[in-house]
Amino acid sequence: MSTGDFNRRAFLRQAGATSAALSVAAPAMAARPSPKMSGRVIGANDRIQVACVGVGGRGHYVTGVFHKIGQDTNNCAVVGVCDVYQRRVNSNKEQYKCDGTLDYREILARKDVDAVIVATPDHWHARIALEAMDAGKDVYLEKPMCHTIDEARQLVNTVKETKRVLQVGSQTTSGDQWHKARKAIADGMIGKHIMSQGSYHRNSREGEWNWKIDEDAGPHTKGEAYVDWKMWLGPAPKRDWNPDRFFRFRKYWDYSGGVATDLFFHVAAPMNICWGEPQFPSKVMASGGIYGGPAFEKDREVPDTFHLIAEYAKGYSVVLSSSMANSQHIPGLIRGKDASLIMVEHGRFEGHADHITVRPEVRGGNPEYLAKYGKEEIKIPVENNDPMRTHVSNFLDCMRTRNKPTLDVETAARAQVLISMSVMSCRQGKVLYFDESKWKVSDKPVKA
Ligand SMILES: NC(=O)c1ccc[n+]([C@@H]2O[C@H](COP(=O)([O-])OP(=O)(O)OC[C@H]3O[C@@H](n4cnc5c(N)ncnc54)[C@H](O)[C@@H]3O)[C@@H](O)[C@H]2O)c1
Repeated sequence: MSTGDFNRRAFLRQAGATSAALSVAAPAMAARPSPKMSGRVIGANDRIQVACVGVGGRGHYVTGVFHKIGQDTNNCAVVGVCDVYQRRVNSNKEQYKCDGTLDYREILARKDVDAVIVATPDHWHARIALEAMDAGKDVYLEKPMCHTIDEARQLVNTVKETKRVLQVGSQTTSGDQWHKARKAIADGMIGKHIMSQGSYHRNSREGEWNWKIDEDAGPHTKGEAYVDWKMWLGPAPKRDWNPDRFFRFRKYWDYSGGVATDLFFHVAAPMNICWGEPQFPSKVMASGGIYGGPAFEKDREVPDTFHLIAEYAKGYSVVLSSSMANSQHIPGLIRGKDASLIMVEHGRFEGHADHITVRPEVRGGNPEYLAKYGKEEIKIPVENNDPMRTHVSNFLDCMRTRNKPTLDVETAARAQVLISMSVMSCRQGKVLYFDESKWKVSDKPVKA
């Protein structure tokens, strides 16, 4: 089922329906718009109430950050958690001293919830975020923003339509280095942007593909081991209970784009911030494979080694490289005609650095540029903040001011299109083109 088949609004028309009805099955929805709900106006001193949908590894952590900020400032509180796995509902409910449910629609129907954290696997991101915005909630939406390009389009349109605040949870974008790089580029410190490159390499057998499976968990049991498997699958193709898919969803295309969506999103999103004006790619090609040997081969669809090349209409390109079977990075940098901006000396593009470096093109360089900036490297200091806490605080601030958050939907959509097209290109073995006026991907160049 594609997201186009969802009628999220039809459910909201019935949001007052009994919780008994809510607990039965995922909603059957017809495509008819209904009036949207507006959220509460939050004053500077009002306490913001949040609930998290999907309290697995990430959701548990992010909820903890909101909870801690609430403890420190008394300005926000976690009032609900939701998961389709009863054990995770129980443990998070107990830890955060709040309500818990197996059904996210109960969270969305609550009037006392101002914002929803969405930390489910990727195939559920858009649907829950769209329904939450229709229900008048602001949304902290984990990266990747969504699973398909059409979902990205719907999210952009729905943020515009509902005027909700949506922050995409690539917390690295709250690091100071991107904002310093953005200013340096805008000030002309690299000349014309030619190419950005980055990488994401690690070597981990345990990794995200071999996470622990709770042997007792499943849909055919009762009590804390119960999993609402039908709800977990949601918009994905139906299939019988499979604990490997439940606990290790990143191995499968139905729920993930592999390294591209899991890790490259953290590189593509900040690059778009550095460039000043975020951009859709015009042409994308990608390839990769399962090369990592026995520890990496088990029942997995996604490559462990994956690379993409993209072109942009403004006249520059992007190269991203990754392997989960080798930890050596290629340097993360933004190349200009007159100088390069070295984002991290140690290579991992989105890793923290206490400075970024402008390295001029001396040989064959631009005399005017060299007269202005000199031939020596210029180190620009970077503030050492906590990106995660900064990112969440920025979301909470924007809920009060209604300003655009750091990783707003428009910027995130441009990163998402690059990432999603790279997955399509790799899987189809094709060079793909993007027509941004129609949000359309094709294997034929877009006519001017
Ligand atoms: N920003 C980051 O650095 C970062 C880090 C890790 C993960 N993530 C993202 O967070 C998301 C979750 O990753 P994870 O590692 O926590 O996975 P996970 O499998 O540990 O957790 C996902 C949870 O969502 C629950 N769930 C699934 N469908 C649901 C539904 N319809 N309603 C309620 N609960 C539902 C699952 O039962 C599970 O407990 C992914 O999209 C991932 O990309 C982001």
